[in-house]
Amino acid sequence: MIATMTLNPTIDRTLEICRLNVGGMNRVQAVIDHPSGKGINVSRTLKTFGLPTQATALLGGESGRWIAETLTKEGLKLEVIPTAGSSRTNLKIWSREAKEATEINEPGPLVSEKELEQVLAHIEANAAHWQWLVISGSMPPGVPSDFYGTLITKAKAQGAKIALDTSGAALKQAIKAQPDLIKPNETEAEELLGRYVRHETEAEAAAAELLQYGIRCVLLTLGKDGAFLGCDGEIWRAVPPEISVKSTVGCGDAALAGLLYGFRQGASLQDALRWSTAAGAANASLPGTEPPTLDVIQMLFHQVLIKRHL
Ligand SMILES: Nc1ncnc2c1ncn2[C@@H]1O[C@H](COP(=O)(O)OP(=O)(O)OP(=O)(O)O)[C@@H](O)[C@H]1O
Ligand SMILES: [Mg+2]
Repeated sequence: MIATMTLNPTIDRTLEICRLNVGGMNRVQAVIDHPSGKGINVSRTLKTFGLPTQATALLGGESGRWIAETLTKEGLKLEVIPTAGSSRTNLKIWSREAKEATEINEPGPLVSEKELEQVLAHIEANAAHWQWLVISGSMPPGVPSDFYGTLITKAKAQGAKIALDTSGAALKQAIKAQPDLIKPNETEAEELLGRYVRHETEAEAAAAELLQYGIRCVLLTLGKDGAFLGCDGEIWRAVPPEISVKSTVGCGDAALAGLLYGFRQGASLQDALRWSTAAGAANASLPGTEPPTLDVIQMLFHQVLIKRHL
C-alpha cells in the first residue's frame, strides 16, 4: 500500500481564458473544479496505475465535504481527519494562448494542535502497513515548520519509506529527517541549495549534491525539459516528447506517482524514470488538475528519451 498525506487539500478551480489581461476584464471560457492537494493528486495517479493507495487528508467545511464526496465517488480510498476550518479553493487561470497557468493559492484554514495530534495518531496506528508514505504539499497555518520531520521520523520508525514533495521552510526542515525520496522542481532545488538551477549542468550538479544529504533518491523535475533522477549512486536524465499542453498543474505529482509505480514494479532506475516522465507529460496533456490516463502514459512511455549521466 502506498499512502499519501495531504494537510492542505484544495478545490482546484481552473478558469480557462484566451489570454490573461492583468488589471482588465477577463471572460472565462470554461470552469473546471477538481479535488486536489498534492498527496491527493499522487493517490489519484497511483489509482490510474492500478496500485493500492490510500489518501489521508485534513478536511473541513462545505469545500472539504465536496472534496471527500468527489474522491469517494471516484472510488479512491480516503481517510478524513476533520478540521474545524474550511478547506481552501485555489484558482488556476489557464491562458489558452500562452499555454501557461497563473496560480492564486489560498493559505488554507488554521489548524489546531489537537487536529495535528490526530494526524500523528493516524501515522502511529497505520504506518506499519504502508510500503511508502508520500508527504506532499504545503502546510496550512498553525502547523510548526518541523511537523513533516516529525511525521517522517514516526513513519520511518514503523518501516515505511518516505517520499517528500514540498517547498520552502517545510522542505528545509523535513530533509533533516532523511526521507528516502524527494521531488524538488528547479525553484525548490534553488531554495534548498541557495544557488541557481537553470541549466542542464547546474541541474545535474544539484541532483548530485542533494544526494549528499543522506537521501536515497532525488527526482529533480524541470518542467517540459524533463527530469534528473539521482539514486543509489547513479544519475539518469529524461526528456519527454513534445506534447500539446493543456495544463501543467499537478505534473510533479503525476511524475512522483509514476516513479513510485516503477519502483513498485521492480523496474530498473531508467524505466522508473521513464514511467515518471511519461506520467508527468500525460498530465500536461489534460486540462485542469485531472490525473493522466493509463493509455496516454503507456503511449508516451516509449517516446521518453533516457540517458545515463553517472
Ligand atoms: N510542458 C510539458 N511537456 C511535457 N512534459 C511536461 C511538461 N511539463 C511538465 N512535464 C512533465 O512533468 C514532470 C514534472 O513537471 P514539473 O517539473 O513542472 O513539476 P512541478 O513543478 O513539481 O509541478 P507541480 O508542483 O505543479 O505538480 C516533468 O519532469 C516532465 O516529465
Ligand atoms: Mg511540485
